[in-house]
Amino acid sequence: KQARIDRIKATIRTCPDFPKPGIPFKDLMPILHNPDVFSDTIALLEEHVRETGTKVDVVAGLEARGFLFGPPLALRLNCAFVPIRKAGKLPGETVKCSYVLEYGQDTMEIQQSSVKPNQNVVIVDDLIATGGTMAGACRLVETMQANVVGCLAVVELDYLKGRDNLKYAVHSLIHY
Ligand code: PRP
Ligand code: MG
Repeated sequence: KQARIDRIKATIRTCPDFPKPGIPFKDLMPILHNPDVFSDTIALLEEHVRETGTKVDVVAGLEARGFLFGPPLALRLNCAFVPIRKAGKLPGETVKCSYVLEYGQDTMEIQQSSVKPNQNVVIVDDLIATGGTMAGACRLVETMQANVVGCLAVVELDYLKGRDNLKYAVHSLIHY
């Protein structure tokens, strides 16, 4: 298992001063360049979910980069994938929630009919930094009266203490 994690970590590029001076940006796109590494990433997320022993009804992925990892995980768990999008992109009845970014705020949205009350939802994103995005997604799922049974990410920036903002179980494959 550690070998698979190490190989994923080795493909992640740190890009200094992107998108702004002083920010060491983690570029996860090379994971998707190599099907073996991408497959290991999804398998490790799946294994974690299975180890928790909780039945999952829905994998909710966060726009945009959570859309890369959420759908393949949902396929492997044989459950629904539901997108949580930035506001104004989804038709029909939606539930909105504003969330805090490093500078300012934004609004995310989910389709009302996509998650039923009491369903078990795993939320997936590529990366947890301050945790603001993941916390907003948790609030959306709560508003739907569904259960957040886990917050998953490929990478977590531990030094930003994002998980302190999250009241649910958080699991990330790689930590910086
Ligand atoms: C990035 C990243 C996470 C979020 C993490 O998304 O993909 O979703 O920031 O930051 P946080 O923990 O401090 O909230 P971003 O909003 O840059 O947009 P994108 O996924 O659409 O590229
Ligand atoms: Mg994102």
